[in-house]
Amino acid sequence: MIPHEEILALLKPRAAAAAANAYAPYSCFPVGAAVLTAAGRIYVGCNVENAAFGLAQCAERSALAAAVADGATRGAVSALVIYTPGLQAHPPCGACRQVMHELMSADSMVLSCCDGEENRRWLHSEYLPDPFVPEALPKPRNEGS
Ligand code: THU
Repeated sequence: MIPHEEILALLKPRAAAAAANAYAPYSCFPVGAAVLTAAGRIYVGCNVENAAFGLAQCAERSALAAAVADGATRGAVSALVIYTPGLQAHPPCGACRQVMHELMSADSMVLSCCDGEENRRWLHSEYLPDPFVPEALPKPRNEGS
C-alpha cells in the first residue's frame, strides 16, 4: 500500500483543480476527487449539479466513471482522494461509498482533504460495513441468443 502522504502529494492537487471546475451553483459546495489506478493512471471528477436537484452527481463517482470509461476494471483503483475547499475534510456520502467499495481494490485507501492540515482516511474494510456485493446477485442466465 502506498503511504498516504505520497497519495496526497500526488492526488490532492489534481482533486483541488477538479473542484475548481465543479458545477455546484445550488449547494455552493464544490467537491473534487482524483483516483489512482494500479497502472499508475490518474482520473479526476467534480460534482455536477442540476436544476432538477436529485440529478446531482458526486465528485467521487465522476472520477471513478472517468477511470472506467478509460478501461479501468473492477479492483483496478487503488486510491481515491476527495478535496473540498475550506478547513474541514469531509467524508464521502453513502452512495459513493457503495460505488467505491465495488470498484476499488481490497487494499485501497480513500482520503479526504481540504485547505487546512486536516485529512481523514479510510481503508477499504472501514468505510462501508456489511456492503452489498455483486457476488450476491444470481448469475445471469445465457438464453443462447
Ligand atoms: N457531494 C459530493 O460530490 N461528494 C460527496 O461525497 C458528498 C456530496 C456533492 C453533491 C452535491 O453537489 C454537493 O456535494 C452537496 O451535497
